[in-house]
Amino acid sequence: MQVKKLTDLDVSGKRVFIRADLNVPQDEAGNITEDTRIKASLPSIEYCLERGAAVMVTSHLGRPTEGEVGPDDTLAPVAVRLGQLLHKPVRLVQNWVDGGFEVKPGEVVLLENCRCNKGEKKNSEELAKKMAALCDIYVNDAFGTAHRAEATTHGIARFAPVACAGILMGAEIDALGRALHDPKRPLVAIVGGAKVSSKLTILKSLAEKVDQLIVGGGIANTFLLASGKRIGESLAEPDLVKEAHAIMDMMRERGAEVPLPIDVVVADEVSALARANRISVDEVGPHDRILDVGPKTAARLAEIIANAGTIVWNGPVGVFEYAQFAGGTKMLASAIAHSQAFSIAGGGDTLAAIAKFHIADDVGYISTGGGAFLEFLEGKTLPAIAALEARYND
Ligand code: 3PG
Repeated sequence: MQVKKLTDLDVSGKRVFIRADLNVPQDEAGNITEDTRIKASLPSIEYCLERGAAVMVTSHLGRPTEGEVGPDDTLAPVAVRLGQLLHKPVRLVQNWVDGGFEVKPGEVVLLENCRCNKGEKKNSEELAKKMAALCDIYVNDAFGTAHRAEATTHGIARFAPVACAGILMGAEIDALGRALHDPKRPLVAIVGGAKVSSKLTILKSLAEKVDQLIVGGGIANTFLLASGKRIGESLAEPDLVKEAHAIMDMMRERGAEVPLPIDVVVADEVSALARANRISVDEVGPHDRILDVGPKTAARLAEIIANAGTIVWNGPVGVFEYAQFAGGTKMLASAIAHSQAFSIAGGGDTLAAIAKFHIADDVGYISTGGGAFLEFLEGKTLPAIAALEARYND
């Protein structure tokens, strides 16, 4: 993947337009509840400010209706947080597409939610050209939105005088590319979550590459069904049993494996007060719900992880939000933290587990991407990255 990099360019005195992904979760009062993406966007902004560039930053927030900025759509709380982190005021600019606002060298402004502009989602050429005219250098640092071909992630890259990858985008491409294209073996992937259907493409594509594919949560239940086990009232997708079978067969033919649970933690309801039982996978009763892997399985998974050369982690193996079903994911997190392997992790639930078990400093690379992380690992061409590649030789 060849893209121009911000750090190779002279930005001094230039007008720099940075498309970041500042799409952060907020509570009902609009307070930012998790600011990892804002923090991850700082290096590119600081790089430009330190070199005397006039910096414009924009991002989407949520999925607003184009043509208006509703009370939940504004980047105002993000401007405040960004200002705190940069230790300087960050002015929020409304109605910015046609220009008419001032940014001095060494100053940064935040351009209001770019998805409120008409034509953003449809990657309008007219909008992209107007935005490109605002800058000398376009920087795409929004890895989390790299799987979307929108006017600020794709179209503008075609028309801006120069288009390059920001520091975060470059780091994401390097880390994920390293795990995908030249991994130290054994390559172990952990794919957890509720549904096979939502992760079928990634499961299939990883099944062609990895040495061990650890499945967790509802996904593991569907695989257990496929291997002939009873799962009681556990969450599963019986209509995808065939697909699960095919994945296990494909792995077996390559001498690779899908290590399924040998013991599980069950309860009759998913709640903080539910009574949990640890049983063998062969003892699951008709009314049981499997909500975590048991300790023997967790120990086996920890051993696989301890011997891995590269680890890719997306999704928990149990309902870790409740203490009685958190043991498997906690053991897995600890095994990843202690492993010598290069590990990468991504996705909302995974980041929540990393935070809960305090292992952020021990994971090789934590991606800011959710959907983009998965699509990159599926081997798909992400449109925003393709747009930068197309401008490499200009
Ligand atoms: C994300 O949160 O995954 C990214 O910001 C992309 O958001 P989107 O799914 O609304 O395009």
